[in-house]
Amino acid sequence: MKNINKYKLASMPLTVFFAFGIVSATPAADVDKLVKEECADCHQKSGNSTDGKTPSIAGISVDYFIESMDEYKSGTRPAMKLKDKDEDMKEVAKELSDANIKALADYFAGQKYVPQKQKFDPGLAKVGKKLHRKYCDKCHTEGGSSAEDDAGILAGQPIAYLKYSMDNYATGKREMGKKMTKKFKKMQEKAGDEGITQLIHYYASQQ
Ligand code: HEC
Ligand code: HEC
Repeated sequence: MKNINKYKLASMPLTVFFAFGIVSATPAADVDKLVKEECADCHQKSGNSTDGKTPSIAGISVDYFIESMDEYKSGTRPAMKLKDKDEDMKEVAKELSDANIKALADYFAGQKYVPQKQKFDPGLAKVGKKLHRKYCDKCHTEGGSSAEDDAGILAGQPIAYLKYSMDNYATGKREMGKKMTKKFKKMQEKAGDEGITQLIHYYASQQ
């Protein structure tokens, strides 16, 4: 069977061969193995993390996933070291080929996102909702729960991760686009650091 396939491939036009090559670069079994060996320890096999710090990556868009991995690889996005683990996302990303990243992006995009069950402050969340509508909803639609925005999923992520992400933006450790910078700064001017906390509790309140 293998030999026949090889023979067929050899007689195909070059473009078809390349398309074939890309598609078969990371077969499904290999993706499962990658997920199990490289990601599940922190993100779980389903992509819904459970340690209260690691973001859930189930259901996030392919574009946002690939952009994130490229930024970890190049070092433009910071990464945190979890206390009991010896790797961080920069090291994880460096070990992956572009084809592996694409295959993993497809795999996780196909998983169902489950918002975290966590404690939050309803008072803070109420103000956070208003801030979100005013400053963030244009790009993080449906309360920050839509993967289609290609801007990550905010709703239902663990509070510790939301805080880490927002702090990285607030301190300039992670770059945000020009337009987000403008809104983020406006929000900070009007609501201060308290505004960041209120937004975080709003995202955490969506369960
Ligand atoms: C040692 C733990 C660990 C492992 C292993 C790990 N991750 Fe992560 N991952 C994290 C943490 C912690 C973050 C969030 C903080 C950060 O940026 O460092 C994260 C963030 C991410 C993000 C960005 C999510 C967002 O909302 O912006 C993606 C995508 C991701 N990981 C994919 C993967 C994939 C795919 C694998 C396996 C190839 C993997 N991770 C393995 C801990 C891990
Ligand atoms: C003009 C569009 C736009 C606006 C407005 C915007 N964002 Fe974003 N946001 C993005 C994009 C695009 C990303 C994806 C990552 C990147 O490009 O930095 C993102 C990423 C994020 C992330 C990281 C997600 C992750 O999983 O790590 C957080 C947190 C965030 N935004 C919070 C906010 C908050 C809070 C506001 C309002 C004060 C806001 N954003 C307003 C476009 C926007």
